[in-house]
Amino acid sequence: MKELLEAARRARERAYAPYSGFAVGAALRTASGRLYAGCNVENAAYPEGLCAEAAAIAAMVAAGEREILEMAILGSGAEPCAPCGGCRQKIAEFADAETRIHMAGTEETVVTATLGELLPHRFALRDAGRENAPPEAAAVVRARAPGWNGGVALLLGSGLGGIAAALEEAVAIPYAELPGFPEPTVPGHAGELVLGRLAGVPLLCLRGRVHLYEGRGAAAVLPMIRSLRELGCTLLIVTNAAGSLRCDLGPGALVLVRDHLNMQGTNPLLGLRGETGPPFLDLSALYDAGAGDRMLEAAAEAGIPLATGIYLATLGPCFETPAEIRAFRVLGADVVGMSLVPEAIAARACGLRLVALSVVTNLAAGLAPAPLSHEETLAAGEAAGEGLLALLRAALPRLAG
Ligand code: HPA
Repeated sequence: MKELLEAARRARERAYAPYSGFAVGAALRTASGRLYAGCNVENAAYPEGLCAEAAAIAAMVAAGEREILEMAILGSGAEPCAPCGGCRQKIAEFADAETRIHMAGTEETVVTATLGELLPHRFALRDAGRENAPPEAAAVVRARAPGWNGGVALLLGSGLGGIAAALEEAVAIPYAELPGFPEPTVPGHAGELVLGRLAGVPLLCLRGRVHLYEGRGAAAVLPMIRSLRELGCTLLIVTNAAGSLRCDLGPGALVLVRDHLNMQGTNPLLGLRGETGPPFLDLSALYDAGAGDRMLEAAAEAGIPLATGIYLATLGPCFETPAEIRAFRVLGADVVGMSLVPEAIAARACGLRLVALSVVTNLAAGLAPAPLSHEETLAAGEAAGEGLLALLRAALPRLAG
């Protein structure tokens, strides 16, 4: 919040408000983690001016982004400055009801409200009859790969991005060109969408994901997953690096996730009130049993060991304590990691079938002889990549059929 308020303060210094004398600065943070700021601009036809919030939003849109995660508004009066009605609606176009808006003036006091509190009954794209308008990212992909439709999507976890190099007839599109896609900040996540074929099956690979521990909010996964739906994908395979709670599943082991325990304390659908899928989503068969069985059959036929297990998701960025790992075993977890769950829920909300594969990179805290490190996770992920690639080659023709 401090960074946002500071950006709004700098913008307020540049405001052009000679008629009202009331300078306003606004700053917003997007799903990619970038900040955009704006100030109010008046003219002789005052009060027909440009609000600071609208200026910040325009800067964001012009930079190719569409998702506001948090916003700050700073007026030049003593009282905290709240956005006008028109700006509330403009913010609502790019934010959800839980998005926090910090409002301040020249005094220390900062008032924070959610957009839902400021605008309980907003218009949505739906009201304009355009809820099926394709998101920009899907349009960019279509332009780069005309005729691409559907197929299987594969999200590659930490250290597993190299699998995309095995794709034939590959077309790579950097996430930076795809509005709403995350700009990865974690080593091991390249930030690239690669279209191609693996084992003859059209495959859309996502090299890089956003993690909750990056602090962008769980909803940051939504644009990417929604784009998959817009592109006609029906099945998403999510891979991830994980720690193992079972001594019989050491580094390199592959685990088909049959269910999860969400210990992340959040959910990508928070505050959406059914805007993406039904308001109370049934997760009783989140991981597609049929597709999972086909994966197991393919593994058995190809002689690739593939265990099944329950994935427990933590918020991160710390690895777990040995006491937590002991407790997670009691809860029924087999593997633990800091990803998967937000994308899994988003995929279900978007109507995608889901398969999840964990690659064990280490024994979990307290079970391993050495301290845990991200470098170890990456190195073990890369080493296990071969096995995962072999499994995908064996399974994809069955899954796509
Ligand atoms: N814990 C959490 N996340 C992980 C681990 C772990 O041990 N290994 C790889 N990702």
